Amino acid sequence: MNKIKRAVLWLQLKSHYSHRRKYFNELFAKEDPYKALTREYETVKFGWVVDCVRDKLHWEALELGCAEGVMTAMLSPYCGKITGVDISNTAIKRAIEKRGYGNVEFIAANVVEFMPAKKFDLIVAVDMAYYLGQEHSWEHMEAELSRWVSWLSPGGRLILLNGFNEVTHPKDWLGPHVMEGYRKIMEKAGLKLVKEEIRKYSKDGFSRANLVSVLENIKS
Ligand SMILES: C[S@@+](CC[C@H](N)C(=O)[O-])C[C@H]1O[C@@H](n2cnc3c(N)ncnc32)[C@H](O)[C@@H]1O
Repeated sequence: MNKIKRAVLWLQLKSHYSHRRKYFNELFAKEDPYKALTREYETVKFGWVVDCVRDKLHWEALELGCAEGVMTAMLSPYCGKITGVDISNTAIKRAIEKRGYGNVEFIAANVVEFMPAKKFDLIVAVDMAYYLGQEHSWEHMEAELSRWVSWLSPGGRLILLNGFNEVTHPKDWLGPHVMEGYRKIMEKAGLKLVKEEIRKYSKDGFSRANLVSVLENIKS
């Protein structure tokens, strides 16, 4: 890509993420828009993630797209310290007020601009990867997801959970092939897949399938 193309892309992405921040700030104007505290599905979903981390203590942990920090707080007993990051300042303000104590901290930041000064033993991203990128460019996804890999300490673990559409078509950006594509990027960037499963929730006419991937940084 030449310099001009790169500059145009950078400007487009800047504007894209500025709209995203506005969108999520408006969404979080009302408390708990995703019903993290009240919907059984959300509690079950967070439980699937906790199941992947409860076998050991992770000294430094990071949750990307943490919203108001409900899952961050659920993960905190299994972490020395956990940092939740979200693009919405409104969500993060509420997260700090309600859950920002003990070993839990929150930072308002766009993940694509986030540059941590330390490495993490655990990185978790639940239903946020598919918000990255403009027009869902695989090139941008690869660059961004590879950055997450570079934040992992040796032996560190990365957990991806993404809901997907079961009835799908090749261009569906919420199809299972897309979620598998994210995991493949992580593998290409050097992580080893240690566990992957499809977890389904179905009750009272609502049903959701999720791909849960657990990857480890095998570099020493
Ligand atoms: C569907 S919600 C999921 C929230 C939470 N992880 C959960 O599973 O309930 C997506 C979250 O990702 C955040 N998000 C989206 N794009 C982001 C970005 N570029 N940087 C940081 N956070 C982002 C949104 O603000 C929102 O809180």
